[in-house]
Amino acid sequence: MERNQMIINTDIEKGTINKNIYGQFSEHLGRCIYEGLWVGEDSPISNTKGIRNDVLEALKKLNIPVLRWPGGCFADEYHWKDGVGPRENRKRMVNTHWGGVVENNHFGTHEFLLLCELLECEPYICGNVGSGTVQEMSEWVEYMTFDGESPMAHWRKENGRSEPWKVKYFGIGNENWGCGGNMRPEYYADLYRRYQTYTRNYGDNQLYKIACGANVEDYHWTEVLMREAARFMDGLSLHYYTVPGDSWEHKGSATQFSESEWFATFKKALYMDELITKHGKIMDQYDPEKRVGLIVDEWGTWFDVEIGTNPGFLYQQNTIRDALVAGVHFHIFHKHSDRVQMANIAQMVNVLQAMVLTEGDRMLLTPTYHVFNMFKVHQDATLLAVDANINGFSLNEEMIPQVSLSASKDKNGTINISLCNLDPQNEAPIDIRLRGLSYAINNISGQVLSATKINDHNTFVNPDKVKPEPFAGATLTGENISATLPPMSVVLLSVDA
Ligand code: AHR
Repeated sequence: MERNQMIINTDIEKGTINKNIYGQFSEHLGRCIYEGLWVGEDSPISNTKGIRNDVLEALKKLNIPVLRWPGGCFADEYHWKDGVGPRENRKRMVNTHWGGVVENNHFGTHEFLLLCELLECEPYICGNVGSGTVQEMSEWVEYMTFDGESPMAHWRKENGRSEPWKVKYFGIGNENWGCGGNMRPEYYADLYRRYQTYTRNYGDNQLYKIACGANVEDYHWTEVLMREAARFMDGLSLHYYTVPGDSWEHKGSATQFSESEWFATFKKALYMDELITKHGKIMDQYDPEKRVGLIVDEWGTWFDVEIGTNPGFLYQQNTIRDALVAGVHFHIFHKHSDRVQMANIAQMVNVLQAMVLTEGDRMLLTPTYHVFNMFKVHQDATLLAVDANINGFSLNEEMIPQVSLSASKDKNGTINISLCNLDPQNEAPIDIRLRGLSYAINNISGQVLSATKINDHNTFVNPDKVKPEPFAGATLTGENISATLPPMSVVLLSVDA
C-alpha cells in the first residue's frame, strides 16, 4: 500500500478553531437529566446540590465550553415557570415526546445554571416558540439576567438567587419545521423576528440569538431564514444525525453491525462536509462577512435503542465506530471554522452518542468521551493549512478516504495533529512534513484510541476496554514525521516547540 502523504503548512494559519465546536447538549429525554446528571440532594449517590459527582468530575475534564438545554423537542413543550421555586411545589407534567413519562420539574433553570457553573461552561438555553408565548420567553430572559427591580428579578431573588446569571446563547425554538410546531420557513421567520424582539439585553448581558435552522438538506429553509431574518440573528442552526440504516425504522444496531454498515456510517458522517458547504454558500449570499454563525447544535450517531430499553429514551451503546464518527466530525467542523461557530453533540449522558453511560450508582466513559478528551487541545487553537494525498478505503466499489485529519497550533507553539484511520482492516502508513516552521521543534508524543473488533465498547463489567493508550508509532526526524496508524484508530500527535 502507498503511504499517505501530508504537508502541514505551519506558516499558513486558517483562523481560530472556536472552542464552542466542542459543545454538548442535554435534554429532558430518557435518563440524560434524571439519573444521568440529576439524582437529587437526598440521593445515596454522592452529589453536589443534587448533581451527581462522578458524572460531574468526568465531564469537568473535557473542558466543556457550552451546554445546550432543555431540548430538543422538549424545549417547545417546556414552560420554565413550572421549574422554579420550592421543588416540592413544582408542577408535574407528561413528557409527551420522550416516553410519556412524568417530568417532575425538579431540574429547572436554577439547577441547570448551577450545573453550568460547576462545569465552568456557558449555558445555551433554548426557548419555547412552538407552544409558548412571547411574554413567557421574554420573562425567562428577564428572570435570569436582569439586575434591577422587576417582577422577574424579584421572583428570582425570592427563589434564592440574588445575582443575575450571565446567559449569552439563547435559541428561539427548536426544529420548528417539525416537533417545534411543523411550521413553514416563511411563517417561522416572522415568528423568529417577533420572539427575538422581546429577548432583551439587560445590563452587560448581550444575547447571542440563535434561530432554528434547517433539517439536513433543507436548503430552502436556510434561504428563507437568511433572506428574511439574518439581520436579527447571530446564529442559525443545522441538525444532522449519522443514521447508518436505510430508514428511521431501521437505523441499525449500535453494537451488532457488519463491515458494510461500518462503511455506510462513515459515508453518512462525511456528508456533514457537503451539508455545511452548501448551507454555508447560501449564508454567504446574505452574509459574506460570515457574521452569522452556523450552529450545528445537534449531531452524532443515532442507532436503534438497546434491546429491552424504553424506545422513547434513545439509549444506545457506543463503540470505536462512534469514536471515529466524532473525530471525523471535528475535522469537518475545524475545516469550516470560518462559518461554524458552535456544535453540540447529542447528547451528553445516557442518550444517543453519549460521553457517559450510567446504571444506578455506576458510570462508564464511552469511546466518544475519550475523543472529546484527546481533541480538547484544538479548542481555540489556530487551524493550520494541510495538503494531503490520502489513500482510498473502498468497499463494494464505493470509496471514502482512509484517513481524516486536522492540525492546529496552540499558544505555546505546540502542534497537535489528530488523525482517524477509518479502515477497520488495514494500518495507515503516513508521512507528514511540517513545512514552514519558524522555530525549533523538539519532541513528539502521542495517544491512540483503537480496538481489536469493530464493535468493541465499554461495559459496566469491562469499562476500560476502549481507552486511550500512549502511542509509540510515530518518529520525528527534522521536520518529518513518520507514523503507522493502527486499523480503526484515533491518534493524536503533539509536537512540542
Ligand atoms: O436529540 C434528540 C432529538 O432529535 C431532539 O429532541 C430533536 O431536536 C431532534 O429531532
